[in-house]
Amino acid sequence: MLLIDADAQGSLTASLGFTEPDSLEVTLATIMGNLINDEEVEPGEGILHHEEGIDLMPGNIELSGLEVSLVNVMSRETVLRSYIEIVRESYDYILIDCMPSLGMITINAFACADSILIPVQAAYLPVKGLQQLIKTVGKVKRQINPKLEIEGILLTMVDSRTNYAKDISAMLKEAYGSRVRIFANIIPISVRAAEISAEGVSIYKHDPKGKVASAYDSLTKEVLADGQ
Ligand SMILES: Nc1ncnc2c1ncn2[C@@H]1O[C@H](COP(=O)(O)OP(=O)(O)OP(=O)(O)O)[C@@H](O)[C@H]1O
Ligand SMILES: [Mg+2]
Repeated sequence: MLLIDADAQGSLTASLGFTEPDSLEVTLATIMGNLINDEEVEPGEGILHHEEGIDLMPGNIELSGLEVSLVNVMSRETVLRSYIEIVRESYDYILIDCMPSLGMITINAFACADSILIPVQAAYLPVKGLQQLIKTVGKVKRQINPKLEIEGILLTMVDSRTNYAKDISAMLKEAYGSRVRIFANIIPISVRAAEISAEGVSIYKHDPKGKVASAYDSLTKEVLADGQ
């Protein structure tokens, strides 16, 4: 499995233990820059290996600069797709972690993805953001990537002591349930989960018997049960 950090904040990169993303020599920005300049990219180039058997194409602040310069590039929506074509053979699954904004890098991710999983924090409902997101996905599907689907909306960081989750889940179902799947599995909030970004390991390693690991396990089964 390959993870691609397409967020200029580099949170995914940092949380896998590469704590200073901004000082990495080769990142997604470098690779995409090379592809834009028609330079050769090798399949393993810049890929980091995590102890849990996961590969990572790291991301950092340079993605912000790339985002701006992409505007003037030919095939600006499909640079990431050309990268995926180079590495696709080597992996069963490729997951791209996107930024919260719908800029050019995120559009690049939509242009090459088979499906999109949308995590929504249970504490507040970003209705406007979700509407815009679903609209953009539809547009990319029509114009660039006909295969693109929304895998589902995942309610995360749910605090079972409050009723927010139930309210928000109900609102999501009412607003989007007919068009988009709302996953039956939700991810509870847990201090153990908050700890892992500093540990550089996954929840399966950090707290294998905990409720968050078991929730992600069930979610994985729910995702894989569909259409495989
Ligand atoms: N189930 C959970 N319980 C408690 N804390 C969590 C949980 N899931 C994620 N967190 C913590 O919340 C923070 C944000 O999580 P995450 O990075 O997944 O969200 P994000 O929206 O992608 O944020 P960013 O904009 O930084 O990329 C992280 O510090 C993470 O450790
Ligand atoms: Mg993030």
